[in-house]
Formats: sequence, C-alpha cells, structure tokens
Amino acid sequence: MPDLNFDGHNTLYATHGLHSYAAKCPPQLVRYGIENFSSPGETVLDPMVGSGTTVVESRLHGRNAIGYDIDALACLIAKVKARKIDDKPIGNAADLVLKYAKKDINALKKGNLSQEISARATPPNFHNIDYWFSPDVKHALAILLYHIDQTQMSQDVREFLWVAFSAIILTKVSVASARDIIHSRHHHFEHKEVPDVIKKFETRVRKMRRQMEEYRLLCKQIPNASIVVEKGDARQLPLENETIDLVFTSPPYATALDYPRAHFLAVAWLHQALGITLEEYKLKGAIYIGSERGSHQETTISDDHISDISLVGSIIEKLVEIDPKKAKHIHRYFEDMYLTLKEIYRVLKPKRTAVIVICPSHIRKIEVPTHRVFTEMGNNIGLRLTNEITRTINKKRRVLPYLQKAFGDRMNTEYVLIYQK
Ligand SMILES: C[S@@+](CC[C@H](N)C(=O)[O-])C[C@H]1O[C@@H](n2cnc3c(N)ncnc32)[C@H](O)[C@@H]1O
Repeated sequence: MPDLNFDGHNTLYATHGLHSYAAKCPPQLVRYGIENFSSPGETVLDPMVGSGTTVVESRLHGRNAIGYDIDALACLIAKVKARKIDDKPIGNAADLVLKYAKKDINALKKGNLSQEISARATPPNFHNIDYWFSPDVKHALAILLYHIDQTQMSQDVREFLWVAFSAIILTKVSVASARDIIHSRHHHFEHKEVPDVIKKFETRVRKMRRQMEEYRLLCKQIPNASIVVEKGDARQLPLENETIDLVFTSPPYATALDYPRAHFLAVAWLHQALGITLEEYKLKGAIYIGSERGSHQETTISDDHISDISLVGSIIEKLVEIDPKKAKHIHRYFEDMYLTLKEIYRVLKPKRTAVIVICPSHIRKIEVPTHRVFTEMGNNIGLRLTNEITRTINKKRRVLPYLQKAFGDRMNTEYVLIYQK
C-alpha cells in the first residue's frame, strides 16, 4: 500500500499557498492519483474543485484539467492559481494600485473629504460591517478595492489582485476584527493596533508573485495543457458522456463546513467581482452538498434516489430516533452524493478511474461510515471499488475542534477510494 500521509511534506509549493481554503487536499495526494491513473495529454476532472489543488497539479503534470465548484470565491481562487501570469504586468498594476490607494489614504488622514475621495472610501453596505471592520480598515479596503477595479490592467491581473485582496481578509491574521476565519464560525477579535491594510496587501502581493514565479518555472518544464475552471454543480455536470480520463475529487464531508459562512467577509466586498450579491451567496449556501441549512424539501434537487442503498437506510433509521433534522440532512447529503457519483460515472471513459477522498464521521454518537456508503453506491451505479487506502489527516488540516468533538476521532482518518468504471 502506498503511504499517502505526507506529514512534514511541503504542501504550499508553486501556487498551492496562494489563498487559504478549508479542507484543502494535499497536492501530493492529487499527484499520486494523476501519476498512477492518467497519462500526459489526458483530461482530469474535479467536479468539486475548491481552491484548485487538482487543476494546479494537473497542469504541473501536463494533464488537461476541468474544475467545477458551486462556490464563486472558490472558482476565482482556483482559476487564478492555475493560470500562468507574467510577473511584469502584475508588478506594474500592483504598483499603480498601491500608489493611488496610498495617495487617497494620506489625503483622508489629512482630513481631505472631497466628494471623490469620500466616494472611493465608501465601503459596501452589509449587515454588521462595523462589528467586523474598524473604521480605518473599512475605508482603506474600500479605497484599495476601488483602485483594483478602476486601474487599467488585464482581467487576469485584476483577478490575481482580487485574490490578494480576499487573502488579507480570509487568513489567520486577518485585517478584519475576526479570527478562526478560514473555518465557518468566526470569532470577534479586537486587534491591539489597527491593521495596516495597504502594507498587508503589499506584502501579500509580493508573496503571491514569488509563488506565481515558482509555478511558472515548474510549468516551463512541462508541455502545455488546457485548464478550465467554471462555476458548476457536481450533480449536473455540463459535460458530454465519456469524455474524462480521470476524476479526482475530495467532496465535502457530511454536515461539516459551511463555505459561504466561512467566506462571507471577503464576498461582502468582492460581490461585484464575483457576480453575486451577498444575499444570494448566503442563500445559495443551503444547496451546497453537505450543507446543514435549509429543509430537505426546499434544497434538494432530486427525488429519492437512494432507497436501494441499504446502509443509508440503517444509518437514517438510527439517527431519526435521536435527531430527525440531522437525519434529513444526512439523507440529503447521500442523495446529493449519489447524483454526483452518477455524473462521475457518466462523464468518465470506460475502464478509467475515479479517485474520491472522503472522511467518515460520528453524528450524535452514531457512526456514519461515508466511505462504505460510497462503496455501496458506486457498486449500484457501475463504479467498482478497486482499492481503498487510509490516510491520517494532518492535525493542521482537521476540521474545527468543535466539530472534532461532535464527529469523534474517526475524523482523523480519510479514505482514498479508487473506483474503476
Ligand atoms: C473539501 S472542498 C474541496 C477542496 C479541494 N480539493 C481543494 O484542495 O481545495 C469541497 C468543495 O465542494 C464544493 N461543493 C459543495 N457542493 C457542491 C456542488 N453541488 N457542486 C460543486 N461543488 C460543490 C464546496 O464549495 C467546496 O469547495
């Protein structure tokens, strides 16, 4: 059995560390899948691409890649991470943005409240903005974003700078008055000193340029490959039948993370860039796979497809006695994942492989062996399990401590399920 633990390995090389993302896959695990189950020039699909680990690794191994995610911010991050951008245009654009932003902020500090500067310093209007952002931070972010949006530059470079902007909010040491921010429940936190937004952005862009340079250099040694990242739903993929050579994906865990809640502090600012209002974004959270929000009837896009999966029946039977709401969520999760597996089967070429990385859990002390349910579903659909490898999740990557308590120790073990069509 291969050792897929990768403890102590560098997981942030090339552009993998461009932006934080909850439950990110180690790139070495994706590499294992790509090297063992595909060849250069073939096409890899990740239908729940998150921050883009699969597409970046595919590019680094000369595979074409397609990534979909339901989350608008995830798509932006994944796209930027996988796209080679030259350094000069980034440097030129960042210099201009910083020059204009510094000028405005200095003018504000000197009390210049001209109409133009006041307009540029006006933040978006969202609930609790003053709770999460101190006045100076709020105005500096507004000015910075204004200049990212208005300064002349290519769309690729603008998207790179949007990711840098998001990264100074969604990070451990955020400019927002918040911590635990990469995960779904932020905690309010007063900075001892008001964070210097411009300095943080400058540092972040510098770091991201170095990461992009490493990515470009690595790509240089590899034949070109096409990478496409788009918003999409894993339950209804916009792909033709039997067009994919390998699927590699790590789906959300059953009722684990609420991505829109984790991302809202950045999306509140970047809603125009992402083409979605904050309200729509938050509401859409209810239809993410694994969401604990919304009722079963409101949110599921399917009828009951899983009554034949005996394991699901027995889990739901136990859970419904203790917590009917959780039972509904788990039922919906498995239904959604059944549809996803069916889509994976449909788009995969015959005899090719799908690698799915998943973690079992305990809910209300009831065992939810997600990996075994997936195996039964796969069998039912035509995806035959050919291998199952366990790995220990690195401590740093585990979900929140409060979830750890609810899910139990099993949350430390992930299953790498290898299926063949
Ligand atoms: C565990 S994360 C994937 C992380 C990714 N492997 C990485 O390394 O960044 C699961 C992803 O599934 C996405 N997701 C949830 N429901 C989805 C759906 N119906 N269609 C597509 N993506 C979905 C979430 O937005 C999240 O980004």
